[in-house]
Amino acid sequence: MTIQFSTKIFPQADLQSLKLQKSSLKTLLGNATDCLVLAYSKADIDSFSGAKGAKAKEGFLPELDFLLGGSVNHANILGDLDSKQASVCMLRAEKSWSSNGVKAKRVLLVSLGDVHLASERSLTTYSKVARAALKVMSGGSIESALWFTPSFALAHKADFIAEEVRLTVQYAGDQAYRFGVRQPAMKFKVKDKADTFQHLIFAGNDACAKELKAAVEQGVAIVEGMHLAKDLGNLPPNICTPTYLGKAAQGLSKKTALKVDVLGLKQIEALGMGSFLSVAKGSATPPQFIVMKHQGGKAGEAPIVLVGKGITFDTGGISLKPGEAMDEMKYDMCGAASVIGTMYSVALMKLKKNVIGVIPTCENMPSGQATRPGDIVKSMSGQTIEILNTDAEGRLILCDALTYVERFKPAAVIDVATLTGACVIALGHVHSGLFSEDEGLVSELTKAGHTSLDTVWRLPLDAAYHDQLKSNFADVANIGGRPAGSVTAACFLSRFTEKYKWAHLDIAGTAWKSGAAKGSTGRPVPLLVNFLLERK
Ligand code: BES
Ligand code: MN
Ligand code: ZN
Repeated sequence: MTIQFSTKIFPQADLQSLKLQKSSLKTLLGNATDCLVLAYSKADIDSFSGAKGAKAKEGFLPELDFLLGGSVNHANILGDLDSKQASVCMLRAEKSWSSNGVKAKRVLLVSLGDVHLASERSLTTYSKVARAALKVMSGGSIESALWFTPSFALAHKADFIAEEVRLTVQYAGDQAYRFGVRQPAMKFKVKDKADTFQHLIFAGNDACAKELKAAVEQGVAIVEGMHLAKDLGNLPPNICTPTYLGKAAQGLSKKTALKVDVLGLKQIEALGMGSFLSVAKGSATPPQFIVMKHQGGKAGEAPIVLVGKGITFDTGGISLKPGEAMDEMKYDMCGAASVIGTMYSVALMKLKKNVIGVIPTCENMPSGQATRPGDIVKSMSGQTIEILNTDAEGRLILCDALTYVERFKPAAVIDVATLTGACVIALGHVHSGLFSEDEGLVSELTKAGHTSLDTVWRLPLDAAYHDQLKSNFADVANIGGRPAGSVTAACFLSRFTEKYKWAHLDIAGTAWKSGAAKGSTGRPVPLLVNFLLERK
């Protein structure tokens, strides 16, 4: 990671409250930072400009203006200080600053907008504001910045500050992502301009000191997990093979306390995973079955199990896909990448829960050995499947993994998959599709989506759709026709999840971006990590 994150606590008595107090301003400005970042609200501006009805001299801007020798007033006269949410104003040091003991080289003022409105005091607001500030700071000549966290506290609660800080680290770290910096297999270099911005320091006070430090650590762990997920997603399919994914997972067991097992073809055969193997058959590259364990909770405690689809390239098989944008099917292992990334995050933050990551991974290729449309295979569960379309392969590898995880007696199982093009049509690139009959999991995942801004949208999964999966020759067909394609895919999976609480995430629209910004997004690592963090 190119950006470092740290915290700095100003423990003065007058900083007890989360609000910015006058004398603390002087201490803050006395810091020799490249850029002090402060947030203000519409009320601050109104009172500063003497707007009608505004309380005179309320807020910190008059004091800031005094210490900065009139710079705030000057900016305001020029019209640079806008109360509109997420507008930014950079003040640069002038001679007069130093006479008041100001050592900061710049002060970046960011508007929170009208925070008297309860509806505005949300993480969505915060994310707009934080992104605007981060954009100004990166890509310029600023190396290090001091982010006065309490000034951003939209809800004056320490745990809300923790959520804000986690998001800031997530964004700043994510913004600094560059492809191929960490992966040893990358023999070719991608030229990219180096970043100047290197260090983000969160300033806090006694009221939020504890939360701040933990939140920064968690944020950094999330960024590491996202970066890993992005790297694995972005790697070309000739390098990122099932074997490579297995080695990447195993590599993490050397850096962390994760325990990793990778099963090969013989072991997969012995387990009776006929459905998984039917997909792998067409490829010259052998399948792998990866199991990653994080033991952060008590020994007997039921684990949360994450299952990720790891198709390292999806040609469609004999039901071959059309050529357009087929290269993007290297991203068909993004479910696996996000599970590996999440396991890495969880291990780095030493989460006090038991979490297991399971990844079936192979290539979906056409060949003389490949599965044909019409073939019937027997899954590990014993159910027979008529494969009507070899391009509906994600569900075929996942169903055996979902049977395999029964042995862990899981508290809950969540599978993550770039499963259907229909999900992209239904939800676009905004929300991941969420399918579950368990109201508890639905509400936990929905909430975690909001706190991480890695959101989900629930789609149905009820019995009425199961009819579409009827087969004349086997227990179930692997496709249900075009109507509600994402739902029938989820219905197919649900037939293998009867022994535990289960949710399915379809990340086909959210795991990567196409076009000029083509690349893996690292989603849903933030969602999954927040879900695990917030879970009781
Ligand atoms: N990996 C694809 C899903 C996909 C397609 C994700 C496009 C993102 C963009 C999956 O294996 C697939 O091919 N699904 C088929 C299912 C169909 C044959 C029932 C699809 O969505 O077309
Ligand atoms: Mn497919
Ligand atoms: Zn696929």
